[in-house]
Amino acid sequence: MLPHVLEATPYAGVEPPDVLAREAGIPEDQVVKLDGNENLYGPAPGVAEALAAYDSYHIYPDPMQRRVRETLAAYAGTTPDRVVAGVGSDELIDLLLRLFVGPGEKVIQCVPTFGMYAAFTQLIGGKLVSVPRDKTFDVPVDAVRQAAGDGAKLIFLASPNNPTGNLVDEATVRQLLALGIVVVVDEAYYEFSGATLADLVPEHPNLVVLRTFSKWAGLAGLRLGYGIMDMSVAERMLTVKPPYNITVAAETALLASLEELDLLMSRVKAIVEERANFILCRLPEGQGNRVYRELARRGVFVRYYDAPPLQDYIRVSVALPHHSQKLVETLIEILS
Ligand SMILES: Cc1ncc(COP(=O)(O)O)c(C=O)c1O
Repeated sequence: MLPHVLEATPYAGVEPPDVLAREAGIPEDQVVKLDGNENLYGPAPGVAEALAAYDSYHIYPDPMQRRVRETLAAYAGTTPDRVVAGVGSDELIDLLLRLFVGPGEKVIQCVPTFGMYAAFTQLIGGKLVSVPRDKTFDVPVDAVRQAAGDGAKLIFLASPNNPTGNLVDEATVRQLLALGIVVVVDEAYYEFSGATLADLVPEHPNLVVLRTFSKWAGLAGLRLGYGIMDMSVAERMLTVKPPYNITVAAETALLASLEELDLLMSRVKAIVEERANFILCRLPEGQGNRVYRELARRGVFVRYYDAPPLQDYIRVSVALPHHSQKLVETLIEILS
């Protein structure tokens, strides 16, 4: 086994409901799962019907993802030659690193942020440069420009950022693009924020925008993400990815989801009205770990980062109103 792989810190993914239930010693239907920024409204109803009706599960998917890319391009307002689909946007993060970053080359992230950037960078033997966000968790432009100008190959900017919710502004992205490094703007929560920089892609070959169907469309379990990028990058990405990465189930679910776009967007609206897809919540000093554990003991699972600067915070996914109610009641019980 390679030393850099052995030294990498594994990404701690969220556990499934049955495991959480077993750990808390409660029945599975009592689990309130607010730890994965999943969409607890579930997928569009037509998804299950389409999966049941599909009759060619024995045939490999299209290695060129033709229908998937056409559908995604039409949805995103771009052209299929700029689109590549991945097994979640996670896979695209990995593929981009493998395409652009060699061993020992620098990759920038602005922490705290989504953990897969660090995990995958370590796995390809890249050198991770973590630039701390400022007091309000915004991107510190000057520090990032300095780090980027120092031989970095690629930067990840999640917008909205997970777990802090900050958007990255266009001026910052333009400044970084001008340095010639690959700028990956991760818009996993685009449908909730309504803010995108995808319009900049045609004029900037070094910009990649990532999106996913995990959050707004409730397809986290079927794994479907996509990237919008320069044609030359897309062409090469298609040769780097495993040939059959997008399953026919994911393709079927994609098509069925877009048939019910209005319903899905009305759920997005309900989640935003309830409070956005997720909230980073600051607790009284020193209470983070205790509150996280006490919540879990009562069947309410949230995300906790046991390290500075987030040790006094929990991240809570916004679900249906009765889930929020349960969370609030349980928090009051624990904190009073
Ligand atoms: C910022 C960000 N990017 C990407 C992902 C991964 O999404 P996917 O399910 O498409 O792999 C997440 C999931 O939490 C995320 O928060």
